Amino acid sequence: MHEPLIDGGAIRKMWIDRSGPYRDHLLRLDKESRRNRFGGAVSDEFIINYIELSLGLDAVIHGFFVDGTLRGVAELRPLGKGFADEAEAAFSIEKTWQSHGVGSALLERTLLAARNRGIKLLHMACLANNGRMVDLARKFDAELKFDFGSVIGEVEAPHPTPLSVWRELVADSHGFATAMFDVQAKMLRPA
Ligand SMILES: CC(C)(COP(=O)(O)OP(=O)(O)OC[C@H]1O[C@@H](n2cnc3c(N)ncnc32)[C@H](O)[C@@H]1OP(=O)(O)O)[C@@H](O)C(=O)NCCC(=O)NCCS
Repeated sequence: MHEPLIDGGAIRKMWIDRSGPYRDHLLRLDKESRRNRFGGAVSDEFIINYIELSLGLDAVIHGFFVDGTLRGVAELRPLGKGFADEAEAAFSIEKTWQSHGVGSALLERTLLAARNRGIKLLHMACLANNGRMVDLARKFDAELKFDFGSVIGEVEAPHPTPLSVWRELVADSHGFATAMFDVQAKMLRPA
């Protein structure tokens, strides 16, 4: 499992208290990144509504934090009800932290989570002319196949294996401990 090579940076799965930081991160995206993330120019209001209306409990969110601030997100969202075998993935990294391997590390975590949930088809929420995202997905050629219009990736091994579940648990264990630490720190902070 790769970690991005950025001082003070770490990836962890976000379990609780995630909509506020996620919204603020999306609002901080520069114009071009915002357009690439949403496939067109969107207003602040759109982003606020997007987070309020669409962030269900079934969404798996991996966050990239630098000194406690959320600077990148990978979102995995099962499509359909029940045991969906298709999901949509979306990535956003703030400009300063782009091109440092953060997207690659987030995609790696997302593919592992998708595989462990029995996801067979992964729709990447971006336009086919998003060269950087397509390049990034190509790095995982063994696990992804492409389609025009949007990038569609087939997760190579549709079934979780004991090893893949263990890998996700190991990847999460540090993150979960840190998340709990954050909660405690907030509870202990004077009002
Ligand atoms: C697209 C995005 C997720 C990629 O993440 P990233 O952290 O910048 O990407 P990485 O550093 O892991 O690089 C991935 C690949 O992209 C390509 N790439 C990286 N920087 C690049 C640049 N400046 N110009 C062109 N291609 C570049 C390379 O092929 C790179 O692979 P390599 O490092 O092995 O050469 C990120 O740039 C981003 O959030 N952009 C704005 C929103 C967006 O486009 N989201 C995708 C739609 S859902």
